[in-house]
Amino acid sequence: MYDIILKKREGKELTKKEIEFFIDGYTRNEIPDYQAAALLMAIYFKGLTKKETFILTDAMRNSGDNVDLTSIAGIKVDKHSTGGVGDKTTLIVGPLAASCGVPIAKMSGRGLGFTGGTIDKLEAIPGFKTVMKQQEFIDTVNTIGIAVIGQTAHIAPADKKLYALRDVTATIDNMGLISGSIMSKKLASGSDAIVLDVKCGSGAFMKDFDSARRLADYMVEIGHSAGKKTAAFITDMDQPLGRAVGNAIEVKEAIDVLKGEGPDDITDLSLKLAAYMVFLGGKSNTYNEGICMVQKNLKNYKALEKFVEFVEAQGGNKRIIEDVNILPQADHKVEISAKNEGYIKKIRADSIGRAAMILGAGRQKKEDDIDLSAGILLHKKIGDNVTKGEIIAEVHGNEDNGIKEVLEMVRDAYKICKDKPKKTKLIKALITSENEKIY
Ligand code: URA
Repeated sequence: MYDIILKKREGKELTKKEIEFFIDGYTRNEIPDYQAAALLMAIYFKGLTKKETFILTDAMRNSGDNVDLTSIAGIKVDKHSTGGVGDKTTLIVGPLAASCGVPIAKMSGRGLGFTGGTIDKLEAIPGFKTVMKQQEFIDTVNTIGIAVIGQTAHIAPADKKLYALRDVTATIDNMGLISGSIMSKKLASGSDAIVLDVKCGSGAFMKDFDSARRLADYMVEIGHSAGKKTAAFITDMDQPLGRAVGNAIEVKEAIDVLKGEGPDDITDLSLKLAAYMVFLGGKSNTYNEGICMVQKNLKNYKALEKFVEFVEAQGGNKRIIEDVNILPQADHKVEISAKNEGYIKKIRADSIGRAAMILGAGRQKKEDDIDLSAGILLHKKIGDNVTKGEIIAEVHGNEDNGIKEVLEMVRDAYKICKDKPKKTKLIKALITSENEKIY
């Protein structure tokens, strides 16, 4: 291990044998955390070549189970977001694509730090269970076309250990490590095709377009070389997606979108991601045909009906779509008003995510409990006009969870200016293994 650390510290390329020795030894607790941490830091500074990244991904994928979904008929399509603030697209995209006939057998994660996780959001639905036996998971997909469960400890256990170590050694935001981490889990989860949503901006790991594009390229190539059709959208995370940030309030917003009453940005992105899943799942001949299909199923409420079936199949209370007050509610709802008039120029997504975490909607450490009712509702988004004193956001919290501090953080996350800012593009690029389309 000493020689491997030294080799990477000197910027040299590691061999397959060396990477596999590290992953295997670390998974089996034979390599101590201090040596793994030193190697991670050397990788952080010297980087991983494409070849090293591919080998690392494969080694982490094979450190645990490779899920066999072959008993589910059809092309199973997975979707993954690199992590953002207010990103509840899985709750919308899953039922949308499933309503068009694409089997969705998805394993999702929990939130950590300022980014949220699908499993936490689903658990805000009373009764919803996110743990299922493998056969029940497969049977549910075969019966209703969709099931979403928490990722088991047997999926890429090497990544589980390494991700926790990266989290406390400031080595998360490295291209090779992120691609290996995400793709090892996606490949082990057994779907046939993958649609990635690579976030870019203040609330994402990748702060600028070029690094997001490199990450997208890497992941698409890894997926493709593993024999899975893979595409990546690069999308804006310079402000939270939609208006709700939290858990229960994000479920409510997802229901609004499925009723055709949601904010434009999250509706638009969900339709595009789902359309690409429909296309990769072979249910449409083109991406544009996929767009028409998902738009139709949003309008005729087929996607909403699929959401209801999905919630019911996993033990959740389906009445939430008629009465969202069944969802956990915070005791206090405090409004924040604009200090001055003008246009909203910026809303720092990372600050909003951190504020939500302080309220209890997210976790600082993996072991933390979360408050499913807490969150932040953004009344104003970038480009909106505000008058002095007008409500820009609303904080939902419970006693003793730093509401005062959060109010200041949210207020400071907003930048108001005199001139109307230029509109930012929500979808910046679509990267496939065949070509790259920059919007
Ligand atoms: N999400 C992951 O699963 N892994 C990373 O490294 C970053 C985001």
